[in-house]
Amino acid sequence: MKIKAAELALSYVEDGMRLGIGTGSTAEEFVRLLAEKVAGGFKVQGVPTSERTARLCVELGVPLMSLDEMPELDLTIDGADELDRRLTLIKGGGGALLREKIVAAASSRMIVIADETKLVETLGAYPLPIEINVFGGVATRISIEKAAVKLGLTGTMALRMSGDDLFMTDGGHYILDASFGRIPDAEALSRALHGIPGVVEHGLFIGLASLAVVAGEDGARVIEPSA
Ligand code: A5P
Repeated sequence: MKIKAAELALSYVEDGMRLGIGTGSTAEEFVRLLAEKVAGGFKVQGVPTSERTARLCVELGVPLMSLDEMPELDLTIDGADELDRRLTLIKGGGGALLREKIVAAASSRMIVIADETKLVETLGAYPLPIEINVFGGVATRISIEKAAVKLGLTGTMALRMSGDDLFMTDGGHYILDASFGRIPDAEALSRALHGIPGVVEHGLFIGLASLAVVAGEDGARVIEPSA
């Protein structure tokens, strides 16, 4: 299903495009297909959203630039952990949400690729990744809990681990995974989280995706954001 979504998304990529390249297993299928086209003479310049994606692109011969060298992009293709009909997303399961959001925001369009199990009525069953500064992590966590309670959101919050160590993002931050169960008002939660100094970024992507390509057993279909 991931390959089917990646295939259809690839049809939106035009020769010469400046491309944001996402992170995760679905985005990696896209990179493999893109690399085949590049090997056939197709020209793109990619900006990777993580060190992991950068390594795969280099390995497969997809030309890369930094976002500073190419700060305005035509299109970003990336996966998601959850999406709703408005194409609000939860991202960051792979820990790359900060760079993913910066790259998506620098792009004229963002296409999300996912299998249909990720399409939900209400976001929040997937734990929301919140990237926090290492300094004052405990205080930041308490502030997040208080802000969430004010919005009627409760649930467990866990610092992400990588084996026995705390998981560290490409930017050198920690991730708190917040299991709220339901996030009925993503905008309100986003505003509240952005008001907390130790929060670097969160995994709610609001108004960034212009299209989703969702694949099931029967093939891939395109979803436009509903009002
Ligand atoms: C990476 O940080 C994430 O935002 C990924 O895009 C997301 O976790 C989707 O990953 P998969 O395609 O592996 O499910």
